[in-house]
Amino acid sequence: MADARISADLTDQVAIVTGASRGIGKAIALRLAESGAKVACVARSADKLAETVSEVESAGGVAAAYPCDVADTDAATKLVEQVAEEWGRVDVMVNNAGITRDTLLPRMSDEDWDTVIATNLRSVFAFSRAAAGVMMRAKRGRIINISSTSGLRGNEAQANYSASKAGVIGFTRTVARELASKRRAITVNAICPGFIATDMTDALKKAAGEEAVTERIKAVVPLQREGQPQEIADAVVFLASDSAAYITGQVLTIDGGMTC
Ligand code: NAI
Repeated sequence: MADARISADLTDQVAIVTGASRGIGKAIALRLAESGAKVACVARSADKLAETVSEVESAGGVAAAYPCDVADTDAATKLVEQVAEEWGRVDVMVNNAGITRDTLLPRMSDEDWDTVIATNLRSVFAFSRAAAGVMMRAKRGRIINISSTSGLRGNEAQANYSASKAGVIGFTRTVARELASKRRAITVNAICPGFIATDMTDALKKAAGEEAVTERIKAVVPLQREGQPQEIADAVVFLASDSAAYITGQVLTIDGGMTC
């Protein structure tokens, strides 16, 4: 993969990124910071967030850790208010935190269902609602929600996850319409990654075997490789930039052609 990256000027802007302790969220935090934004990094573990913050700072950027369980609606609301108070604004809200609890429908417990919906979908509602308040007052903002190709089409053993990610798409389209106005530069978009190399997909490799997963990727992904977190982060930087001002309510699929 080429190392040349998209660039955008987000100087003085403030971004909140959930699930920023590793994987796609960490790559997004690093890229937004490289583009000049101050980044509030959210995840449950303060220690792991400290690693992201330290990487941002080593690269000359500004970031701070905001430990929080995104499934806790009150904590999410307070966190956005705290960032707005401490840093004076919230320009970019990236709802990225997500989990899987895969199992076939007959074996799926209420807890498997509720935990995934609360973490992947209710969190998007809570963070977006709080961020939208700040953005409406400022008359500008970007909400970028990380959905999944599993939200576009079914995926065996992921009834809870697919439902949460499809919910994120419906939420994105509706909130994009609600927040769109000639007087306000607020856009709301979703990204659907396909198979991206992170801890989430490592778990799949461990369960199914690395070779089996590699063969499967070759069979179903026209570009015949898994994606990298930076390839999602680049799209986030673009959607956060002024270049994407006329794009709202859209779903950008980044999956090597898997769903084309
Ligand atoms: P990951 O498992 O590597 O990282 C998930 C992040 O979310 C971590 O920082 C984790 O601490 C955080 N998180 C999880 N539950 C949380 C909670 N209750 N409160 C606060 N933080 C929490 O996952 P990955 O692969 O980086 O995925 C990021 C997003 O991209 C997720 O929404 C995932 O569903 C989505 N996605 C990932 C794909 C992939 O192939 N890796 C494909 C399609 C979508």
